[in-house]
Amino acid sequence: MIACFQPKYGTPNDLVIKEVPIPEPNSSEILVKILARTVNRTDTGVQSGKPFVVRFFFGFWHPSNEISGTDFSGVIVKKGESVTTFEVGDEVYGFYDIGLKTHAQYACIDTKRTIFKKPAFLSHEMAAASCEGAHYAYYFMDKVKVDPSKKILVNGGTGAIGSAMTQMLVDKGCEVTVVCAPGYEETMKSWGVNKVYNFANKVFLKDESRYHYIFDCVGKSTFFECKHLLTKGGAYISSELGPWSQNLFLSLLTPLLPGKKVKFPLPLDSKKSLTYVQDLFVRGKFKPLLDRAYELSNIKEAFEYALTGQKKGNVIIKS
Ligand SMILES: NC(=O)c1ccc[n+]([C@@H]2O[C@H](COP(=O)([O-])OP(=O)(O)OC[C@H]3O[C@@H](n4cnc5c(N)ncnc54)[C@H](OP(=O)(O)O)[C@@H]3O)[C@@H](O)[C@H]2O)c1
Repeated sequence: MIACFQPKYGTPNDLVIKEVPIPEPNSSEILVKILARTVNRTDTGVQSGKPFVVRFFFGFWHPSNEISGTDFSGVIVKKGESVTTFEVGDEVYGFYDIGLKTHAQYACIDTKRTIFKKPAFLSHEMAAASCEGAHYAYYFMDKVKVDPSKKILVNGGTGAIGSAMTQMLVDKGCEVTVVCAPGYEETMKSWGVNKVYNFANKVFLKDESRYHYIFDCVGKSTFFECKHLLTKGGAYISSELGPWSQNLFLSLLTPLLPGKKVKFPLPLDSKKSLTYVQDLFVRGKFKPLLDRAYELSNIKEAFEYALTGQKKGNVIIKS
């Protein structure tokens, strides 16, 4: 099989595509023939080793997983003797932010990871694309009380996190304003968004409305820039640490003070987040935004593209 190796932190040029034997599952693993996976911002963060803090989770000197990839959708072709919850032939998908080595034609996945049987109505591409961004989006919402009384501004509605977030908030009945890339106004409206801003020149900062929460899903604003848009006691959450890691410090400081807060999302159990996402799928309330697709042999180009910060939702890697 071919697989994408990440021998060191660096640029997509440091990735190595190699032919290696198909791995053998151990007793608690399934061997999956992978038919779709994504190159996402977790993958690019691990591959580049940036921000530096990722090295505390993914390996200090070099990535601890020699093969890249965090999500997958495919079919089980072999299983270990103690696996009882899955059968050979089952179509499955899953995600683990620390890495599953799924940028390969086959991967052995431990059944203690988050793995779901793929509903027949979902394509492998859709299943793989429903994981990473949606997982982080769920843990933004988990930091605050989201209900139909809330007015929320989402910055970055065309990203993997922002596109999932927007659909989740609409499903919750919130009044949602989205700041997004030009050309996506109709997509946002079709999802049920109330107001859409083109991100150019940060015109949304002049909005007269006031929001209970601002979710910056691309880390392109700061708390201090957006503070005036928050209601009294409102909260700002960003997917990035911000200048001088200020979001981390502000999330510790602002809860001690009266007024507007900064919260920092802590993505935890993906079983919880992705079970929620599967329910949205079943109710027809979530459709992952798909960007372009690449062959596995061209995965370096997919990393280059994801690193531009310009992907629209999810970049798929085909078999
Ligand atoms: N905290 C974590 O654990 C974690 C995990 C994953 C990702 N992240 C971070 O979260 C961020 C989002 O990741 P993602 O995968 O959702 O993003 P993404 O898919 O890479 O998407 C970025 C999107 O934002 C749009 N955009 C660019 N500049 C913008 C601006 N000023 N205002 C609004 N939208 C803008 C881009 O559109 P154009 O093409 O038109 O520029 C693009 O569609 C990244 O910064 C990533 O590093 C954090």
